[in-house]
Amino acid sequence: MTGIRSVIRGTGGYLPERVMSNAEISQIVETSDEWIQERTGIRQRHIAADDEMTSDLATHAAQRILKDAGIAAEQVDLIVLATTTPDKTFPATATAVQAKLGMGGGAAFDVQAVCSGFLFALATADSMLKTGLFKTALVIGAETFTRILDWSDRGTCVLFGDGAGGVVLTAETEADAGDRGVLTHHIRTDGTKSDLLHVDGGVSSTGTIGHVRMLGNQVFKHAVTNISSAINAVYDETGLTSDDVDWFVPHQANQRILNGVAKKMKLDESKVISTVGDHGNTSAASIPLALHTAVSDGRIEPGHLVLSEAMGGGFSWGASLFRI
Ligand code: ACO
Repeated sequence: MTGIRSVIRGTGGYLPERVMSNAEISQIVETSDEWIQERTGIRQRHIAADDEMTSDLATHAAQRILKDAGIAAEQVDLIVLATTTPDKTFPATATAVQAKLGMGGGAAFDVQAVCSGFLFALATADSMLKTGLFKTALVIGAETFTRILDWSDRGTCVLFGDGAGGVVLTAETEADAGDRGVLTHHIRTDGTKSDLLHVDGGVSSTGTIGHVRMLGNQVFKHAVTNISSAINAVYDETGLTSDDVDWFVPHQANQRILNGVAKKMKLDESKVISTVGDHGNTSAASIPLALHTAVSDGRIEPGHLVLSEAMGGGFSWGASLFRI
């Protein structure tokens, strides 16, 4: 409506060096490679080194994003970082990234919507660019999620991994953007379902960090329904359909959820970008990591229409449509 569109100018990602296979995890809890692969599609996950913080992963990703775009850190005037696993209770992890990048001005803050965090951060940055408040935004999802896992709970510890990814957006006039850019979002939450997926600790409740607690099969049931309704909302708003979508870049929680949503929305399997096997569920980092994988291997090309979706703790969920 404002005549300004947020255009994705670069993507990037970072995965910590250490890889933990399903075989290795089978030595920690009673599980098997076969069970994990069959129920989730996950083969391995990356684990941050003891001295690596979320801001370190995010900074590595940010440097790669900016290099990809040919944009200098000084040009960035906004960082919106989605994370559930911040370096500290305060200040925002985004400000640590700001300092590490050497970006003096602008504003940097965190968004917390767990696995939907990247889409919430994208919607936030897009809205701020469209109002003219900022011109160049880094949108990052970064997690050291394995630090809030209960490594004796096989129902959760096999699912998650650490990582960071993101995009850089610039505010362009619609004339300059052409048909590129972020087209629309739909983000929603339902706090009444929070007990199905939450962390049992926090600053003002227990004074501890807590661990992830999840009723996985109940989360699974809500996931396909909520995600599909969000996708239908972005289709209704734009008049686009699954036939128009070139690539489906979902939150990488579980291959069965990805397949279930693709089937329900009549998205051909060949359009689905799946990286869950390589890094598990990296929460807010999973969408930008998958996006970056498919952009760098040449599948997603300029002009392609991308549909993304996520569902996570809160419950929070959403969908986004953008043309690269
Ligand atoms: N290895 C072996 N057996 C296991 C494991 C494991 N790692 N985990 C659970 N089981 C067992 C259970 O104990 C249960 O055994 P029982 O029948 O003897 O009681 C059996 O497997 C079936 O358990 P379910 O929980 O019903 O298994 P399900 O098929 O639902 O798969 C899973 C579990 C993979 C967690 C699935 O429910 C799921 O993926 N849910 C969605 C999770 C998700 O997507 N979360 C996204 C958001 S995360 C966020 O926002 C931070």
